[in-house]
Amino acid sequence: MQSCDTLIRKAAVMDGGGAPAEWMDVGIADGRIVAIAPSLALHADSVVEADGLTLAPGFIDVHTHDDLYVIRRPEMLPKLSQGVTTVIVGNCGISASPATLGGALPDPMNLLGEREGFRYGTFAEYADAVNGARPAVNVAALVGHTALRNNHMDRLDRAATDNEIEKMQAQLRESLEGGALGLSSGLAYLSANAATTEEVAAMARPLGEYGAVYTTHMRSETEAIREAMEESFAIGRAGRAPVIVSHLKCAGVANWGRSGEVLGALDEARVSQQIGFDCYPYAAGSSTLDLRQVDERVRIAITWSTPHSEMAGKTLAEIAQEWGVTQLEAAKRLQPAGAIYHSIDEADMRRILAHPATMIGSDGLPNDPRPHPRLWGTFPRVLGRYCRDEKLMTLPEAVRKMTGLSAQRFGLAQRGLIREGFHADLVLFDAKRVMDTATFSEPVATAKGISRVWVNGELAYTEAGATGSRAGRFVARGKTDWVQ
Ligand code: ZN
Ligand code: CU
Repeated sequence: MQSCDTLIRKAAVMDGGGAPAEWMDVGIADGRIVAIAPSLALHADSVVEADGLTLAPGFIDVHTHDDLYVIRRPEMLPKLSQGVTTVIVGNCGISASPATLGGALPDPMNLLGEREGFRYGTFAEYADAVNGARPAVNVAALVGHTALRNNHMDRLDRAATDNEIEKMQAQLRESLEGGALGLSSGLAYLSANAATTEEVAAMARPLGEYGAVYTTHMRSETEAIREAMEESFAIGRAGRAPVIVSHLKCAGVANWGRSGEVLGALDEARVSQQIGFDCYPYAAGSSTLDLRQVDERVRIAITWSTPHSEMAGKTLAEIAQEWGVTQLEAAKRLQPAGAIYHSIDEADMRRILAHPATMIGSDGLPNDPRPHPRLWGTFPRVLGRYCRDEKLMTLPEAVRKMTGLSAQRFGLAQRGLIREGFHADLVLFDAKRVMDTATFSEPVATAKGISRVWVNGELAYTEAGATGSRAGRFVARGKTDWVQ
């Protein structure tokens, strides 16, 4: 080869597999990485002098709720500005497809967007819509168990019948044929909490046939977390499918300090079955406002409220005081609403983040007017704060948790590593300067130190902002490749 589209010169290349950086030139042509060597004599339309910056595979956000956002706002700035080149949507049991809404939008599907946005009765229609929107990042999708329940059940506060399970399985199979990565569940939410283990195990059965994964927002992340883990593992075994525990945490004051025990139990189970997990680098969670999580010892900030939009940004304690009621009563009056719960212990979060099997996922909520800062900050925060400044892990290790490990676990073929022949999803960043700037009080802010981002070989972002190139596409399931 004598020429290529883009030549990146003298970068500290981190391959995404955990190996230390090597000084390399990298050539890109037709959306692929075509050459990697200490010195390449290639003619290129565009030559980028990396000048010692770090070149990594584009980050994969394994836990997102960007299902409808990628279509509504295809520029995807919250993610692109962090160096993210692929998002996995459809987590926590809620997905934009396949979804046919009969009545009102059940909680927490309302996190994904307004009712009118749900227009994809089949997975294929959603994949087409993603490609039609030309998002700036790639999109791969899970199918939500709660979405399937809502398609086939008249009410969600009961277990599905055999007949309903069959219909849901058929829809899941059709989606897996169309490239879905797997099934997600959100058993903690009231819209799925009445589902029995048997129901979910039956739903997991098609997964093994297709080599797809089961991801779960478990039935409990508080006191009953160990029981919830056992349930998740049993569902994985029933489906002969890998299990991915979403946003692993020890939530609730009574549960603080248990991360060592939880990770120990996960490691033990990992000996005999495929289990992965993801984590976001904050000591606070966010979702819809759940009355069961109201605890006066926990600081809860309201992110939105349909009847009281003026209360967004205030804490539940402030609102309760203003109204002269208990926090629980205030929470009832705010419904439906969203909240940030400062209900995680920082030491637990760090221990989970640092575990070698942990992938990074933002769990960002792109439709919140005052979102949890994880939406704009997750990846630079891991790289800057937790890796460089606090040395919780090495840089190649941090990059692996965002790239190679994630692609292998979820079956994203030819992504997640810097290898010849792989898709040219790349991020060039300054390891000395990279840092999140989004905070709980100013949550919408782009990170520092992300120099350039390429998606499928096209330059999509520079430190001056998005380039306008939107070269992302729908990515269908490839083969998962598990190394424990
Ligand atoms: Zn969740
Ligand atoms: Cu989630």
